[in-house]
This record gives sequence, structure tokens and C-alpha cells, in this order.
Amino acid sequence: MHNFVFHNPTKILFGQGTVEAIGPETRAWGRRALLVYGRSSLKRHGLYQRILASLQAAGLEVAEHGDVRANPVLTHARQGIDKARAWQAEVIVAAGGGSVIDTAKAIAAGVSVEHDVWKFFTGKKSLKAALPVTTVLTLAGSGSEMNSGMVLTNEGTGEKFGFGHRLLHPKTSILDPQATCTVPPDQTAFGAIDAISHLLEFYLTAADPDTPVQDRLMEGLIENSMVACDRCLRDPLDYHGRANLMWTTCLALNGLTAAGLGRVGFPMHLIEHSLSALYDVPHGAGMAVVVLGWLRAQQTVLAQRIAGLGRRLFGLDEPDPQLVAARTIARFAQWLASVNAPLTLGDLGIPAADIPRIADNTRGLARVWRLADSTPERVAAILRHCLARPDADNGNLPGEWRHYP
Ligand code: NZQ
Ligand code: ZN
Repeated sequence: MHNFVFHNPTKILFGQGTVEAIGPETRAWGRRALLVYGRSSLKRHGLYQRILASLQAAGLEVAEHGDVRANPVLTHARQGIDKARAWQAEVIVAAGGGSVIDTAKAIAAGVSVEHDVWKFFTGKKSLKAALPVTTVLTLAGSGSEMNSGMVLTNEGTGEKFGFGHRLLHPKTSILDPQATCTVPPDQTAFGAIDAISHLLEFYLTAADPDTPVQDRLMEGLIENSMVACDRCLRDPLDYHGRANLMWTTCLALNGLTAAGLGRVGFPMHLIEHSLSALYDVPHGAGMAVVVLGWLRAQQTVLAQRIAGLGRRLFGLDEPDPQLVAARTIARFAQWLASVNAPLTLGDLGIPAADIPRIADNTRGLARVWRLADSTPERVAAILRHCLARPDADNGNLPGEWRHYP
């Protein structure tokens, strides 16, 4: 196990009826708040009124920056920065999923600097200060509620970049599983897939081969993401299913699983960010396709590691790691199909002829994220693995694949 520092300062209030705590939790950080939210779901499901009432009851003065879109964009974050300045906001409140929280973080980071906020994303400027952010999470998946990351798309350049800094940890995040009961089936599945992709990035790229604590943690979180997602799809109002999904996806990217792994990469996210920047596909949908293609591309090289996961997760017990790796990927594909996730670039409506363009668009982020191995040529090769239907992988799929204890 490598040396590590694990310091996650975000306070989590988890459980039924916690939404109303957003007022007092935010008041601890200031009196003038900018409330950031998305397009329509918050008002449609009554959360907006509850959150506003709680903020006002706690003595906060509130201005608003709504209409954050999925795959949030730089120009809209810039408008939020202007609003926060004009309002002299002291604290930013995010009420939504990853897109809303990431926009709130960008506003918090951009408000006190002269330069454009995008310079943080390209590594041209370093972050020295940020306004405090509090959140009410309404969609389980991104992990933004308890981590230091933010992701924006620059519509001008067609680049979707992520940036992380310890100052961007939310101060408090409210995780009320009931707030996620209205998330539609596709977004529920995309959130679970996103969390699985975060875990797989670490699991499969860790520099340190001897990390059994983290391995068991990640395998358990992957399994629970699938089980909890299935529960939520069967019954969207299943409180405990929603609760398990919410906590699992949060733990998947809050620093805990990566602690001790040494250097890890995000090579699958590198490719997906190019897809969602160019085609505006939901992040989790893009991840489903890219993870499958990446696993297939790495199947031989990472056979031992992928097989280890398949043995734990699916109870596969054949001795040959190459065979077990192939079956692990096939079973994962089968689960993705069962939750109606896209499996190929074609499912996302992206033609094979676009592969060079998608690969070329990963150059900038590969440089910023120091992914020297992810050359456009290698990325294109992985994308070609994203073209075939998964049932071509393995002609011997068992009908019943689940291995839940
Ligand atoms: O805009 P509204 O009307 O609110 O609808 C949203 C949106 O259309 C809807 N929604 C959210 N909560 C709902 C709901 N609908 C019904 N009931 C509710 N309670 O869901 C749609 C998707 O929302 P979004 O916030 O885009 O989804 P998600 O949480 O999956 O976030 C995705 C974004 O997070 C980034 C992704 O790249 C993507 O831009 N990520 C951020 C990370 C981070 N900060 O650490 C890491 C991730 O890898 C990821 O890259
Ligand atoms: Zn992700």
C-alpha cells in the first residue's frame, strides 16, 4: 500500500427529512446565498419550495441561478459568476445532480479571480480561494457532493474538462434518498454506471498491486451499485434501494477507495468526456459504452485483474484467467443491457466514421490529466472496440448471471 493522506472535510447529513437542514447548514457560512439549480425537476417535484423556505427561515437572503443543463457549459457558469459578484454572494447553494453541483463549484472558484474560470481547468491558473458551497443532492452518481472535482464543457472549443482542488469540497451535503425517488429510470441507471466507472478506473489503473482493503471495498461498491440500481428500477419509491444507491455512489468517488493505490488514471473518463462534449450524451450513458470498449481492449493485458473482479462479483470459477476475464466483461455487458444502457457507439447515435474526430478531441485533456499513454491512436483503437454488440464477445452466456450473496 502506498503512503497517502485522506482528508475529506465535507459534512454529510444523510437520511429521510434532512432537506430542511439546508438553511441552518448554509447560514453557518454566510448571509447572502446564490441558489444554483437545474432546468425543471426541482420545481416540478416541490424541492425548490422546501429548500427556499429553509434558507429564508434561517435568515438567508437568496438570489438564484437556475437552468443549469446536463453536461453543464462554461458560458452558463460565467453568467453565474457575474451574478454571484453582483449579488455579493457569501455562499453558493447547489440543489441538483452533478451538473448543478459542478456549476456551483465553478462559480465558487471563479467569483474572486480576475481571470476566466476556464484557466483552472486548463491548468493555466491555480486556485487560491473559493466561496463555500453547500448542496442538496437530487441524483445519485457523480460523487460531486463529497469530492473536490468539477467538470464543465467549453462550448467554444468543444472540450469537456475536469478539475479538482481541496478548496472545492462542499462544506455540507444533504443526502436525502427521498429526493432521488423522482429520478427517471434512465438517469438512475446512468448514475449507477457512472459510479461503477469511477470504481473501475481506480481498480484497473492502480499503480500498487497489493491493496486488498481497497480492492474489497471497490468490489463491494460495484456490486452494491448494481444491486441498488436494480432495486430502484424495480420500484422507484423503494427508499432503501435509493438510500443504498445514494451512499454507494458517494463513497465511490470521495477519495476513500483511491487512498493507498498510488497513481491512478482516468483514461475511460478521458474518452467519455470527448463523447459528451461533442454529442451531448448523458455522462453515464457514454461511460457504459466506453467502459465496455476499454475492458475489451485491455482484456488480454489486464486478464488477471479483470478475472479477479469476475471471481468476486460473479462467482466465476474457471482456472483460465483469459476465459474468466472474457466472461466477466460479457456478464457486465449483460447487466448493462438489463438496465437499458447503451452498449455501442451506434446505440448513442455516433457513427464509426467519427472515431478519428473523437480521438483527436482527447488530446487537450490527456495533456492536462497527464495520460501520456492515451494517444489519439490508442484512443481510436479503444473506440473501435465500442462498435461491436457484446453478444459477439462470448457465445456461452449463462441465462442467470447474478451472484449476490
Ligand atoms: O435539469 P433538471 O430538470 O433538474 O433535470 C436533471 C437532468 O436533466 C435530472 N434530475 C436531477 N435530479 C432529479 C432529476 N430528475 C428528476 N428527479 C430528480 N430528483 O437529471 C438530469 C441529469 O442531471 P445531471 O446533474 O446532469 O446528472 P449527474 O448527476 O449524473 O451529473 C452528470 C455530470 O457530472 C459530471 C459529468 O461529467 C456530468 O457533466 N461528473 C462530475 C464529477 C465530479 N464533479 O466529481 C465526476 C463524474 O465523473 C462526472 O464526470
Ligand atoms: Zn464519471
